[in-house]
Amino acid sequence: MKIVRTAEALREARKELKGSIGFVPTMGALHEGHLSLIRRAREENAHLIVSIFVNPTQFLEGEDLESYPRREEADSKICQLAGTDILFMPSVDQMYEADELCIGAPARRGYILEGEKRPGHFDGMLQIVMKLLNLSGATRAYFGKKDAQQLVLITQMARSYFLPCDIVPCDIVRDEKGLALSSRNAYLTDTEKERALALSRSLKRASKKVMAGELNVEAIVAEMASVLEAAVDHTEYIAIVDRDFRKLERVEIGNTIVLVAAWVGKTRLIDNIWI
Ligand code: PAF
Repeated sequence: MKIVRTAEALREARKELKGSIGFVPTMGALHEGHLSLIRRAREENAHLIVSIFVNPTQFLEGEDLESYPRREEADSKICQLAGTDILFMPSVDQMYEADELCIGAPARRGYILEGEKRPGHFDGMLQIVMKLLNLSGATRAYFGKKDAQQLVLITQMARSYFLPCDIVPCDIVRDEKGLALSSRNAYLTDTEKERALALSRSLKRASKKVMAGELNVEAIVAEMASVLEAAVDHTEYIAIVDRDFRKLERVEIGNTIVLVAAWVGKTRLIDNIWI
């Protein structure tokens, strides 16, 4: 595995790769969720590039940019064992210049739910993903459904900018109790981890209700709210939207995402289920 830290070195290293390139962009603190993307990218392509970059422009003022877990040594080992050809770990200076040219998230999909609670987050996220897709020369790039809105926006960006790269959505990975894996779970104490299970429990309740024939969004949201209220400190939103992030009044089976964002202690968690 080659470790490269500059854009130039990545371009050079990539020239030696013949055949398809699978790419997994990450912010590090790798867990089984990342590994599932990495394994799939490894299987489906001749070569694998992974990036680790804690992207400052997608963090808002007062968010956890400084405390975001950084585990370069352990992450490098994981990437090596997973068969990565090139690991890209640039500095901020490598990725950004002063007076940047910016990409903006679209008005509707980009400024509701996560985009409303974290205004500007998706602009920074799209900005860095565009740079990383271009630099990696990826044939296919792999993203988790856990960040559902991110995934939909990246798919739109690839479409709108005619990027020669397939965006591959990958299923959410959960621990044995159902908690969706996230690097931010590292912030949770054991008791908070138990309380955080309310997110996946509320989503399971939603899917059970749908299976029992309840399609009314208001009724499902009310039921989810009661599950969450008993355990979390603050529910930021519960939303039921179609795959294009339009609000629904009735669940459309095969075209619905149920999303939740909630605070447990000082940690903000998100989760969702695709129905
Ligand atoms: O999902 C993430 O880890 C980040 O948003 C991404 C896609 C690596 C961009 O910084």
